[in-house]
Amino acid sequence: MNKLERFIREIPKAELHLHIEGSLEPELLFDLAGRNGLKLKYHSVDELKQAYSYGNLQDFLDIYYAGAVALREELDFYDLTLAYLRKARKQNIVHAEIFFDPQTHTSRGISFDTAISGILRGLEDGKRETGITGRLIMCFLRHLDESSAFETLESALPYKNHIVAVGLDSSEKGHPPSKFTRVFEKALAEGFLTVAHAGEEGPAEYIREALDLLKVSRIDHGYAAIDDPELLNRLIREKIALTMCPLSNQMLKVYPDLTLHPLKKMLDMGVKVTVNSDDPAYFGGYVNENFLSIAGALGLTREDILQLAVNSFEASFLDPEEKQRWIDAVLNYSLP
Ligand code: HPA
Ligand code: ZN
Repeated sequence: MNKLERFIREIPKAELHLHIEGSLEPELLFDLAGRNGLKLKYHSVDELKQAYSYGNLQDFLDIYYAGAVALREELDFYDLTLAYLRKARKQNIVHAEIFFDPQTHTSRGISFDTAISGILRGLEDGKRETGITGRLIMCFLRHLDESSAFETLESALPYKNHIVAVGLDSSEKGHPPSKFTRVFEKALAEGFLTVAHAGEEGPAEYIREALDLLKVSRIDHGYAAIDDPELLNRLIREKIALTMCPLSNQMLKVYPDLTLHPLKKMLDMGVKVTVNSDDPAYFGGYVNENFLSIAGALGLTREDILQLAVNSFEASFLDPEEKQRWIDAVLNYSLP
């Protein structure tokens, strides 16, 4: 292992863009299907893994929603969450802000309470075991309609103290942030922070809408800003972080060639860029593999890695004192 690789692996990091359903590893998927008496289309873990190849975001989403069918009981969501935290611990992730998609479950008859109770219990026991602090972000599926999002928001109100923010994910093209302006207005009024996937496959205009209409604190992905100097300046001026996911971008053909990825250009301009794993079980790697791939493709330096790690805490929803404590730990970090 060279020195930069060791630095990447060992430095403390926060993960800010992780779909818990996307951390369902094929082995666990098979176990859960077995204990829930479900028959899968695939006969083995290897056969399932063969299917993990995508031409675009929608190809992936079809497979991701099919995989989520294995999650049925509260214990399944608990096991899923704990499995992610155990992986994250090994990568020196010390804080994780985790998305979940309630509509992926409620639409097939699994209650909101079943899903969130399992995840929250997983976060609690996981914190005890790994020390990782977790926050939960509830995403609305943007391919569904406004009334379904309102219904989901209503179900979340009793859990207000356990959900830090609401977000927006699923099929981007044709489903602009403006479709959910009123839902996000209500969420903001109820005290939730907001984030949104924008500019992954969609245009820069969707990033503007997320900022202007949904009042987001950060943008998930955000690559489309690279061709829009005015928007780039705004992201820098307003210190809006972008949660980037290089292996996802490679797998979903957003940037099939990672040497063309805009991460380094944006970082050098002063955009608050972060590195995350998105759906690690489906894209071939957790946070450190994402760091290693993009560092290799773009020739990132130790200073770049340090900045990315600092950004991960600065852009987090931790309290100011907790943020500062971790930023100091990152800046003081040196290899023995
Ligand atoms: N983009 C949009 N929706 C998603 C993703 C993603 O990368 N992962 C899970 N849902
Ligand atoms: Zn995502």
